Amino acid sequence: MSQPYDDVIRPHGGLLIDRVLRGSVREAVRERADRLLKVPLDPMGLSDLELIATGALSPLSGFMNRADYDRCVEEMRLASGLVWSVPVTLALDEDLAGRISEGQEIALCEGDQILAVMDVTGKFANDRKVKEREAKSVYQTTEAAHPGVARLYRRGEAHIGGSIWLVEWPGAARTEFPELRHTPAETRRMFARRGWRSVVGFQTRNPIHRAHEYIQKTALEIVDGLFLHPLVGETKRGDIPADVRIASYQAILRDYYPAERVVLGVFPAAMRYAGPREAIFHAIARKNYGCTHFIVGRDHAGVGEYYGTYDAQNIFDQFPAEDIGIIPLRFEHAFYCRKCKSVVSAKTCPHQPEDRVFLSGTQVRQMLERGEMLPEEFTRPEVARVLLEGVQQHKQAQESANQRTAPDH
Ligand code: ADX
Repeated sequence: MSQPYDDVIRPHGGLLIDRVLRGSVREAVRERADRLLKVPLDPMGLSDLELIATGALSPLSGFMNRADYDRCVEEMRLASGLVWSVPVTLALDEDLAGRISEGQEIALCEGDQILAVMDVTGKFANDRKVKEREAKSVYQTTEAAHPGVARLYRRGEAHIGGSIWLVEWPGAARTEFPELRHTPAETRRMFARRGWRSVVGFQTRNPIHRAHEYIQKTALEIVDGLFLHPLVGETKRGDIPADVRIASYQAILRDYYPAERVVLGVFPAAMRYAGPREAIFHAIARKNYGCTHFIVGRDHAGVGEYYGTYDAQNIFDQFPAEDIGIIPLRFEHAFYCRKCKSVVSAKTCPHQPEDRVFLSGTQVRQMLERGEMLPEEFTRPEVARVLLEGVQQHKQAQESANQRTAPDH
C-alpha cells in the first residue's frame, strides 16, 4: 500500500519494508518459535534486526545471503543492482551453523528472549579470508586496531541469510529512548503532518557542538525541516554514552532551535566506523525515514586516520544521483574563529590556523572526565553543563561497579 509521504521521497527500492508482526499472528508465531533452534544475536545483530524490521534498511527484509553480500562488498550494490554499501549479515559460530540447514526456520534471540523468526535461505563462510576481503573493501584496512574491523574479526566463522519477522522488540528498543525511537513509517507521517516537502537528516555519534549547530542550521536555511538523528546503537569504547548525548540535544533544542522546524529521533544502528561506505549507508537509511537531503561533513563516520577528510563526500560521485535518491549536502570542516567571532570554514574565513578553536573528540572526553567545562567557543554552556554532569555520573557509576567487583585481599 502506498504511504501518503511517498510522493515526497520514496523508500530505497520503492517500498517501505514492515516485518513487525502484530496481533494474533504474532502470538501464533511466538508460540511456534519456542520449539525452534535458538540463535543469539550480538549487539550489532540486535540493532540490525530492529532496523530491518522497521524498514529503516528497506529493501532488506532480512540478513544478507551470499549473492547480496558478495556484490555489496565488491560493487556496493545488492544482487538486484540497487546501491548498498555495507554488509548487513548474521554471523555465528560454525558448530551452531552446522545444526542449521537451508529451508529451516530458526528463532533469533537476545539472551533467552526470542525476538524474531528467520527463514534460513542460505549459508556461507565467514572465515579469515572472507573477513579480510570485507575489511579491505568496506573498511579500507585489515588492521584490527580499527574498531569496525575488530568487531568483524570477533564475529563467528559462518553466515546465515534469510528474511525475518519480529515478534518482540530488542531490550534497548523497549527501554532506551522509547519516546524518540520513531520508526520510518512514523517519521514519514510526522514530516507529512508538518507539511514539509524537504527534510535534511543529520547523523551523529557525538555530543552537539557549535560546528554541528552551524552546519545543521545552514542546511535548514534551504529545506523545510531538520531531522536530528543521533545514533544510539553500539559505539566504540571511549565514545560519549548515548544517554548523555541525547540529554545534550534536548538541552540545546529547548533554547536554540525552532520547535516547529525540528524533529529529534534516535537511530538504533551500531556504528561501523566505515567512513565513506557508511556515509552512503547512513544516507540511504535516512531516505527510508523520509529525508530528502542528508548532511555529510568532515570525516563522516570516520575513526583515527583511516579515511581522508572528504572521502565520505566524494564517494557519492561514484553513483548516478538517482541511484542514491537522497541529496548529500556537503560541508567543509567548520570551526570557531576568534577573529571572525563566529563559526566559519576555510571557505568563508581568511584568518590563520592559530585563530581557530579546535578540540578533538579525545580532548573533549578527557576534559569532561577531569571535570572541566568545555570552552564556550566549542559548545554552548547549556550543553557543556549537561555533558559534564553526565560524564561525571557515568564515571562514578563505573568506579563503584569496579569497587564492587574488586577481589578481596
Ligand atoms: S559521525 O561519526 O556520526 O559522522 P560526528 O557525530 O562527529 O560523527 O559527525 C556528525 C556529522 O557532522 C557528520 O556528517 C560529520 O561529517 C559532521 N561534522 C562533525 N564535525 C564537523 C566539523 N567540525 N565541520 C564540518 N562537519 C562536521
